[in-house]
Amino acid sequence: MSDNSQHGLGLNDPNQEAKQDGPVECMGKTFANDAERREHYLALLSEKLKDPEFRKIEGFPVGEDEDILELSDPPYYTACPNPFIEEFIAHNGRPYDPSEGYSREPYAADVSEGKTDPIYNAHSYHTKVPHKAIMHYILHYTSPGDVVLDGFCGSGMTGIAAQLCGDRKTVESLGYQVLNDGTVLEEKEVDGAKSKWVPISELGPRNVLLNDLGSVAAFISSNYNSNFDVDLFERRAEELIDKVESEIGWMYETLHDDGGVGKINFTIWSDVFSCNECTGDIVFWDSAIDAENAIVRDVFECSHCGAALTKRSVERFWVTKYDPRIEETVKVTKQVPVLINYSLPGSSKRYEKKPDDQDILVIKKIEEGVLEDWYPISEIPKGDKTSEPISCGITNVNLFYTKRNLRALSYIYDRIEGNSLRFLFTAAMSGLTKLNQFHLKNYVFGGGGCNPGPRKGVIYTPSISLESPPMKVLRDRLRTQMRAFRSKAAVTGFNSLVSVGSATHIDHSSSLENTLDYIFIDPPFGSNLMYSELSFMWESWLKVFTNNKQEAIENKTQNKNVDVYRGLMTESFRHLYKMLKPGRWMTIEFSNTKAHVWNNIQTAIYDAGFIVGNVSALDKKQGGLNAIVGSTAVKQDLVISAYKPNGGFEDRFRNENDDDGLWDFIRTHLGYLAVVKKRDGSLSKIPERDPRILFDQVVSYFVRNLRDVPISAKEFQLGLQERFAERDGMVFLPEQVNEYDKARITTAQLRQLTIFVDDEASAIEWVRQLLFDKPQSHQDVHPRFINELSGWKKAEEQLELSTLLEQNFIKYEGHGPIPPQIHSYLSTNFKEMRNLAKDDSQLIKKAKDRWYVPNPEREEDLQKLRERDLLKQFEEYKSHEGKKIKTVRMEAVRCGFKKAWQERDYPTIINVAEKIPQNLLQEDQKLLMWYDQAQTRHSDESLF
Ligand SMILES: C[S@@+](CC[C@H](N)C(=O)[O-])C[C@H]1O[C@@H](n2cnc3c(N)ncnc32)[C@H](O)[C@@H]1O
Ligand SMILES: [Zn+2]
Repeated sequence: MSDNSQHGLGLNDPNQEAKQDGPVECMGKTFANDAERREHYLALLSEKLKDPEFRKIEGFPVGEDEDILELSDPPYYTACPNPFIEEFIAHNGRPYDPSEGYSREPYAADVSEGKTDPIYNAHSYHTKVPHKAIMHYILHYTSPGDVVLDGFCGSGMTGIAAQLCGDRKTVESLGYQVLNDGTVLEEKEVDGAKSKWVPISELGPRNVLLNDLGSVAAFISSNYNSNFDVDLFERRAEELIDKVESEIGWMYETLHDDGGVGKINFTIWSDVFSCNECTGDIVFWDSAIDAENAIVRDVFECSHCGAALTKRSVERFWVTKYDPRIEETVKVTKQVPVLINYSLPGSSKRYEKKPDDQDILVIKKIEEGVLEDWYPISEIPKGDKTSEPISCGITNVNLFYTKRNLRALSYIYDRIEGNSLRFLFTAAMSGLTKLNQFHLKNYVFGGGGCNPGPRKGVIYTPSISLESPPMKVLRDRLRTQMRAFRSKAAVTGFNSLVSVGSATHIDHSSSLENTLDYIFIDPPFGSNLMYSELSFMWESWLKVFTNNKQEAIENKTQNKNVDVYRGLMTESFRHLYKMLKPGRWMTIEFSNTKAHVWNNIQTAIYDAGFIVGNVSALDKKQGGLNAIVGSTAVKQDLVISAYKPNGGFEDRFRNENDDDGLWDFIRTHLGYLAVVKKRDGSLSKIPERDPRILFDQVVSYFVRNLRDVPISAKEFQLGLQERFAERDGMVFLPEQVNEYDKARITTAQLRQLTIFVDDEASAIEWVRQLLFDKPQSHQDVHPRFINELSGWKKAEEQLELSTLLEQNFIKYEGHGPIPPQIHSYLSTNFKEMRNLAKDDSQLIKKAKDRWYVPNPEREEDLQKLRERDLLKQFEEYKSHEGKKIKTVRMEAVRCGFKKAWQERDYPTIINVAEKIPQNLLQEDQKLLMWYDQAQTRHSDESLF
């Protein structure tokens, strides 16, 4: 730990800009002042840290006790697993009450609202969901005083959202009305197109538990979610920056041509290469950049020998020097300053110059000087994203900075006390490394700024980089942060608790079963972002690092493939499931475009016991969210709503016989689904109410609970008809159907789902929807079908339309009575046919050769025939030897897996799963489920 005291600014506030001087209350205890509160809990935390068991908790960060204590502000924030979670929930939450009658429909809203808000921009993180977007969710699902959890909280936006639900102005800014008694109203369409303000929630802060594996994530969260004296903070920050300016401002000065002293706005640095013909050094900026026209030349000339060079053909120019702190010789690529942009005091006019002798002298002096203050020198760990900087010689974290900026930053950091100033520091720091890019076009032609910051999501050192003076960046940041802090004055900090640890084990200290009222998460998505690698630079200053053992990502260096990722997510979901109260909801924001990740996430959600009630996709073109089915539409942001079945259901399910259990499951499930969905005056179809999707739910629930599915698809269909009401191809509980009927009377239009055809299953679905609306002939369907085929998966066998039709639908050949499906179509669409008898020849002629959707009885007959065909095909896959199978008919694999599972033939599932193209397996929810279950079962059984 560095010794801050010797450089202290002499301010009488030792650590936090505590808001209250007087007595404070914290989780039921009263303290004389905030410092006492802090001291009390720090002592407890410090004791706890000595307990070796405590340090064994999954996700416990890497850091010394004193550094963890230095960052922590317990009980609200501990830079390690938070030992006060239980107390926090006991004090703030409400015990689960099965009779409370909580009920909400699944909900989805745009997750990108509010990206320009100052709060959102006060501190960056690798990816963020704006708090304003999350507020809609929290208002919908919770009441004031409820406990919300975000187990992958990142920068803690869920916390801000939960706390600001108590701020009238912010709630109103989202488009709601707030009555004097705190009732929150939303404008909704009722009775046709008329709209009305209806109560949807109540004003008041919610309690929030924020957890992240990332050390810096929790640090950012805690600062966002605490309250402090912002004016004092501003004063301290300004004093600090002024002091730094006066002490080391000379490093960022340059001479104007009239002899005046200019202040540097930024300096452009360029890579130096060495010519592969003559080994002469080539300054990339001088040779390859046409600064006047903002062009980077692909081919450029060696300034020594004239050889034609490309960036590929040249070698890096290395400098070797002894690093006194690392105590080793380091070999890094050479960069030189090539352009200085500066202004004269008292004027905003900008000048530009090539560094002159004096500038070079200053830089040389800095390069040769010895740094006195502490700065991090941690070795960069090997990772999927760190090989690029390591290959440039950046082996240690200090080498990410120019010597000048490192000197300034270490000078500043050593004089910082308290987390709010540290927060300002980490917020500014992202733009102060060699990763900072320079936008040449914007610089030359104007527009958009020339300092875009580092490249997102990677650690990449550009050949031309922009170096800003830290004091300038700090001042800019301070302005943004002050705007943010002032607008979140309603955040008291008393309602939030921040913890560092793995979501696989948030309930480390005790059982937190059935304590949470709502969960909102935006978890890691496969290999999208390598959080711990990207956070390393920040964390090296904080001296507390993410423990990446449980990091839920796909990462080659960490030996984590998609199965490991799914395993970690399942484990996390299990814990979240346990902590959530029965009957409550979890929202999962999904922002990955890869279908395989999406399926793995869904599988993990189900494996943990959750039931998905709705999946909605943000429609970027039309705006708004639409319900989706299947994995194919993963082209944008998705919102998954999943629930934990309500009190008693799971127990009942265990005790009921299969048949009762099944109908109990469906009844419970239907109770969670939306009844009426309206958009732009028309009703939308709710896919989760479709009988076939309901059957899929049944199958997956039974399989996951190790029970055989007690019923065939046809029996299920008939059972639905007996017990429930069906409208427009959707199933409703008797008590729901009135509401739907009422809405149906006032809205004429029912909006169908858009189905993307990419394989046999979706093609059948597509044809079914087409024929359902209009029975028609092969010739009529064909051209439209062809149009849909462009997205068909490569590894999936493509079927002829005729095969599809024959195996799944029925053609009226023109003999016998006209089937009702066709008859009703003809009589509603052709006036002249309305009064014709069913066997009228004119009618028969019109009906002949049309394909139609069979009723459940006939459908089963067809299914049986088709299954025989599919299983024959599956047998071929089973006996296929040698290499992998290139193209497969996935329906055959699904059918074969189902049969093998029923026969407890797990090895067959595993064997075929490993032979077929892996992307098909990973992208298919059903297959992944069988495979996943087979693996567990198989290994369970081989234990005995
Ligand atoms: C998509 S980000 C969340 C961003 C957040 N929504 C925000 O607005 O800042 C996912 C987070 O999951 C965290 N994470 C990864 N593995 C984890 C685990 N096993 N337990 C808890 N958090 C984990 C990462 O550190 C990262 O911060
Ligand atoms: Zn040369």
